[in-house]
Amino acid sequence: MTKLTIVAFDGTRFELEAEPGTTVMENAVRNSVPGIEAECGGACACATCHVYVDDAWTEQVGPPAPMEEDMLDFAFEVKPTSRLSCQIKVKPELDGLVVHVPERQA
Ligand code: FES
Repeated sequence: MTKLTIVAFDGTRFELEAEPGTTVMENAVRNSVPGIEAECGGACACATCHVYVDDAWTEQVGPPAPMEEDMLDFAFEVKPTSRLSCQIKVKPELDGLVVHVPERQA
């Protein structure tokens, strides 16, 4: 299992054990993290699973793919660390990953 921390907008920390191969979005939804709506179910077609990758992790997580980047245009208050959480796959190299949920989704 891989440790994953999702910080809600109010500062609540969800410290999860995530299965490699699942996405950050799936883990957020399964654990009822507020603010991750994931309307399209992970198809990279809604931007309501937007998160900010913690500064310490942006390099390991990497940048969005072109299709994800296009969809991020529809997200609320995009920053350089923005990613769609359905496009971030949990893997052992990301053990300890921290992401932050924005104030609101698009
Ligand atoms: Fe719709 Fe991620 S769940 S883009």
